[in-house]
Amino acid sequence: MSRRKKLYEGKAKILYEGPEPGTVVAYFKDDATAFNAQKKAVLEGKGVLNNRISEYIMGHLNRIGVPTHFIKRLNMREQLLREVEIIPLEVVVRNVAAGSIAQRLGLTEGEPLPRSIVEFYYKNDELQDPLVAEEHITAFNWASTQDIDEMLAMALRVNDFVGGLFAAAGIRLVDFKLEFGRVYDQNDLMRVILADEISPDSCRLWDMDTNEKMDKDRFRRDLGDVTEAYAEVARRLGIIKESTVVSIDEASP
Ligand code: TMP
Repeated sequence: MSRRKKLYEGKAKILYEGPEPGTVVAYFKDDATAFNAQKKAVLEGKGVLNNRISEYIMGHLNRIGVPTHFIKRLNMREQLLREVEIIPLEVVVRNVAAGSIAQRLGLTEGEPLPRSIVEFYYKNDELQDPLVAEEHITAFNWASTQDIDEMLAMALRVNDFVGGLFAAAGIRLVDFKLEFGRVYDQNDLMRVILADEISPDSCRLWDMDTNEKMDKDRFRRDLGDVTEAYAEVARRLGIIKESTVVSIDEASP
């Protein structure tokens, strides 16, 4: 990877210049952070698992016609992506009360929400990603009303489809976070497409029967067995074999 030019290093991924103009390569690190990087650890094998899980989900979304930046997985830790101009928003879809909505609105974790709720957070580490309204998004020009409508429609479509994928694997999709980016075609027409990753780092995933957490909350809340839980998600989705052990840098490519 060092042969390529590094474009950006985030908390869980590094972006390198891609082989063709308009492409980038994402490298999935084992680093885990929480609470705006106040809590940090290296979880061996996490990057490999997130690369595979995100490939699986983004690949399915591409196939059903949800436009994403995902092109293909290159190897254990890298994927080839379409370069996008990231919209500075984190779009969270919630089906069940958990995390910050439970705290903010005094809901009991695990309470089903009356309907799926979509929230926007301003992507800004210094401000700790504050919750914002459409008013703020359009007034400060982070996105237009049309962009917001497209993100809302895609987010709900992703929720229905990915919720179904996980349900078939005995996993409840409690909530998740999406990021979107802009791409421009030959006629300079702009389109909003799904970007970033969809993995247990960016979702809350609970076992359908026991409610056991199978996502990054295991790290945030010191529940242990974080990568083991991610590997179980990958096994249940049929991405890795039943027998695959967790320290998996040697898992099948
Ligand atoms: P929250 O309940 O803490 O607001 O999180 C909602 C969802 O968004 C949850 O699935 C975790 C995910 N998330 C991220 O992917 N990145 C973040 O920085 C935060 C705060 C949440």
